[in-house]
Amino acid sequence: MKQDLKIQKVKKAVIPAAGLGTRFLPATKSVPKEMLTVVDAPTILYVVEEAVNAGIEDIVLIQGRGKYSIEDFFDVSYELEDKLAKDGKQNTLDRINRIKNMANIISIRQKQALGLGHAVYCSKSVIGDEPFAVLLGDEIMVSPIGEPNVSQQLVDSFSQFGNSTIAVMKVNDEDVSKYGIAEVEETDFKISNSTVFQVKGLVEKPKPQETTSRWALPGRYVFSPEIFEFLANTPSGKNGEIQLTDAMALMLKNFKMKAVAVQSQRFDAGDPFGFIKANIELSLRHPEIGEHVKKFIKELVTKL
Ligand code: G1P
Repeated sequence: MKQDLKIQKVKKAVIPAAGLGTRFLPATKSVPKEMLTVVDAPTILYVVEEAVNAGIEDIVLIQGRGKYSIEDFFDVSYELEDKLAKDGKQNTLDRINRIKNMANIISIRQKQALGLGHAVYCSKSVIGDEPFAVLLGDEIMVSPIGEPNVSQQLVDSFSQFGNSTIAVMKVNDEDVSKYGIAEVEETDFKISNSTVFQVKGLVEKPKPQETTSRWALPGRYVFSPEIFEFLANTPSGKNGEIQLTDAMALMLKNFKMKAVAVQSQRFDAGDPFGFIKANIELSLRHPEIGEHVKKFIKELVTKL
């Protein structure tokens, strides 16, 4: 396929992780929701791994007060590493070292919780004039085995078309008002078996009767840097917050935008039920405990 040589590679990702985690209290009173453990790793690691596997090198974490543990997780831990080395726990040490070296972690404070759009805008000086991905820090995406992950699909779409690209997933009528919704038109293009749409409209959390579309935004985006111009001019929207979806709607008046209908499973790990589902699904896939979990669940089900 012919490629426009001017299209820059997506090497940076912004992960907004400044939320207070009010849906998950009291667990999140002193532990960030992004640090809650899914099987044997914090949610944020699944998100960062998705970005890194899509070719991202620099991760910009947007953080609020009391969230130091996220940065610490990706930092050196001398005592622990020393002990693991002395105890000969090489596999665990290798995993710890991989986490430490997987990306450059840059942390930015969002001083006030003014909305997702504002959180992304806080990354402007670090992102500069480059395209970048946005991955919401409490959402875990699990792709079908053998398929590229969601961020990879968006990066591939960006490198093919040079347009900002968002992930979309079909939702039921009753869930429309929980999401940003994209009004779309099908194209003849595919990105690794997934349909590519031209985005025609965007609206944050509409009532089901306010849009005919059922294509929701699950929290994965790739933007060209022009999004910052629109974020700077986005007034407060739903809930009095500066909404990323509203800035995207403004951008759409001037720039083309694509949507990829991703086929991944999505877990909202910032909510107790989504978190439990993520734990069950990912523990079943775990190489060491997967079979035990399966047996346990089967036994449990017979008692229900
Ligand atoms: C945010 C976005 C929304 C998106 C959703 C995905 O909403 O504003 O457009 O669909 O994330 O989870 P929030 O869930 O933070 O209210």
